[in-house]
Amino acid sequence: MTILVTGGAGYIGSHFVCLALSKGMKLVILDNFDNSSAQVLKAIADVTGVAPDFVEGDVRDKALLTRVMTEKQVESVVHFAGHKAVGESTQNPLKYYDNNVYGSVVLLQAMAECGVRKLVFSSSATVYGVPEFNPYTEDHRKKPFNPYGQSKSMVEDIMEDACRADPGLAMMALRYFNPIGAHPSGKLGEDPKGIPNNLMPYITKVAVGELKSLGVFGDDYDTVDGTGVRDYIHVMDLAEGHIRALEYLSAHSGYEAVNLGAGHGYSVLQVIQAFESVNGVAIPYDVKPRRDGDLAAYWADASKALRLLNWKTRLTIDDMVRDSWVWQSENPGGYGA
Ligand code: WQD
Repeated sequence: MTILVTGGAGYIGSHFVCLALSKGMKLVILDNFDNSSAQVLKAIADVTGVAPDFVEGDVRDKALLTRVMTEKQVESVVHFAGHKAVGESTQNPLKYYDNNVYGSVVLLQAMAECGVRKLVFSSSATVYGVPEFNPYTEDHRKKPFNPYGQSKSMVEDIMEDACRADPGLAMMALRYFNPIGAHPSGKLGEDPKGIPNNLMPYITKVAVGELKSLGVFGDDYDTVDGTGVRDYIHVMDLAEGHIRALEYLSAHSGYEAVNLGAGHGYSVLQVIQAFESVNGVAIPYDVKPRRDGDLAAYWADASKALRLLNWKTRLTIDDMVRDSWVWQSENPGGYGA
């Protein structure tokens, strides 16, 4: 049973690949290196002792997809490939609808042509939009307010419609909260190109001296200390959630959306404090104005993941900040070094 892992050289995808290979699962990665590099494949081989089967290509290339699915006898797909920068999506929505939505449609068409019936999709809590209540449950209404979140929500709806039309399909959208951390080996981690958008890679670049200080986007929210609160989840816990989803789909058909989060939130200052105390590295910061589009606080109701997948997070915020630092301090230049 070969798994096709699109975007398997990316941050989340590569951690899933490492875990799946360490469990003896058979997989092939498809990646166009848009937001990753061949160095990641080397790192996966270092960590697992297995050089992953790899095809360089784009999910929008249907001929390539059907060739890979046939030749590799693919039976399921884990679909990570997609653009994921909220700000960029607002500037360039068509880039997101082309790659994230059209790319997923082509993937689903190729799956239909090749009789591949199981799909795990990398979705996001951004699909919910402004919380009507916290924590978000999966039946919270979806009202994304940026093209990135909209693209994820559209793909979820397309998957649901496909499953309604063909009851033999088995598909699951995993709604990620805030993935951070890195593989405990220190050989894999988050390596965003340019100035990081997200909190943790920014913190680690300050810690390693590449950036001078962290800008904290607003300290006047209605939260424990005025700074934004998010549900951070260790990328290895997230990877495990995908393994459980594949197991679930081998025994159930139809479409499900499932939150993958810890079920509680930490503020920006609490993350900084955890990072400083666990790693013994000071993180200078200054408070800046709120960032456009930021929400004050949201976190997951993770009870459906426990009920359906027998999954919940095991790793703590201390594990997340420690593993993030081990990766960055041992790889100051990321994969580019
Ligand atoms: C977290 C908190 C910021 C940077 C986004 C996407 C989401 C998912 C994860 C893809 C917020 C604060 C951040 C900084 C800061 N991506 N912050 N200074 O915005 O919750 O979620 O990334 O799936 O879909 O929306 O993550 O890490 O950018 O921000 O103060 O330099 O840290 O205001 O409160 P976010 P983030």
